[in-house]
Amino acid sequence: MTVIRSAITGVGSFLPEQIVTNADLAKIVDTSDEWIQERTGIKQRHKARDDQPTSDLAVEAARKALLDAGRTADEVDMIIVATTTPDMTFPSVASIVQRKLGSGVGVAFDVQAVCSGFVYALGVADGFVARGMAKCALVIGAEEMTRLMDWTDRSTCVLFGDGAGAVVLEPREGQGATTDQGLLGFALRCDGTKTDLLYVDGGPASTGTVGHLRMAGNQVFRHAVVNIAEGVTAACAAAGVAVDDVDWFVPHQANQRIIKGVGDRLGLDENKVVSTVALHANTSAASIPLAFDAAIKDGRIKRGDLVLLEAMGGGLTWGACALRL
Ligand code: UT7
Repeated sequence: MTVIRSAITGVGSFLPEQIVTNADLAKIVDTSDEWIQERTGIKQRHKARDDQPTSDLAVEAARKALLDAGRTADEVDMIIVATTTPDMTFPSVASIVQRKLGSGVGVAFDVQAVCSGFVYALGVADGFVARGMAKCALVIGAEEMTRLMDWTDRSTCVLFGDGAGAVVLEPREGQGATTDQGLLGFALRCDGTKTDLLYVDGGPASTGTVGHLRMAGNQVFRHAVVNIAEGVTAACAAAGVAVDDVDWFVPHQANQRIIKGVGDRLGLDENKVVSTVALHANTSAASIPLAFDAAIKDGRIKRGDLVLLEAMGGGLTWGACALRL
């Protein structure tokens, strides 16, 4: 049976230049490099300049992904940006990215599912590409989480960073088999009863301010391991593959202990798990495409590999996607 798959034909990422180390943060809050590394695995994070909005990071990542795909901006007919830190309340970051890239009129909008945003956005884009409604789609995860930090709250401000990653999706004919190139199966979830565990205490229709990120860290941690493991299992089932068949796991990069906890629960070989949390910290919707790009560029993930992306974040949202590169 012939089917149209959404294939990833290009990948790119971008990190703002400024690096903030754990030692830098220990100068402003009561923390230490030792505590942060031991509890999270994080060594450093990148931080955007004041005059460098989320759309600028997204554009840089998008340009690299287009180059990798051998496509030009004028061929792009759809842009989806997963972000929780837009330049403005509206227009969408995707609209601004379209203008900055110089792509013509097409579909452009943002997806807001916090740290799960990139997996959600891939799921949305897959619907367009596989139904012939987009021929060259950019799916971007771009975040400036440092804008949401309360720099007096040591329990959150040490965890997050800024960055962007992007993929180009194009239709490819497949056989409906697990050997097809493209996105093979998803699991996307939200449990809205747990909005109070991880949220920003501001917004245009509440306080009229941007607000700061608040998190009941250890409760989120417990849900993360269970939920992500469930999402991975469900996405593999939807794709018709076994967890053991997966060549590479590219998890959301929130905490090395969560990544390990999920790996232990699923019995994963830790050599198959990509981790960039030490260098990037938690970049929310950008973390998966940043890690994915890093592992492709350093030669670990190769064309034809079966890859599993997974995430969990505010909402609580979580999800996973099995794909063949
Ligand atoms: O991406 C969205 C999803 N987010 C996540 O997945 C994050 C999930 N949560 C976590 O990663 C972890 O829960 C944290 C890293 C946030 C916290 O680690 P924890 O092992 O759960 O620590 P805790 O919150 O239970 O706090 C332990 C202690 C507390 O002190 P007391 O009450 O035991 O005296 C905290 O006050 O560590 C203290 N603490 C710190 N100490 C030094 C909290 N933050 C810091 C800090 N430096 N930065």
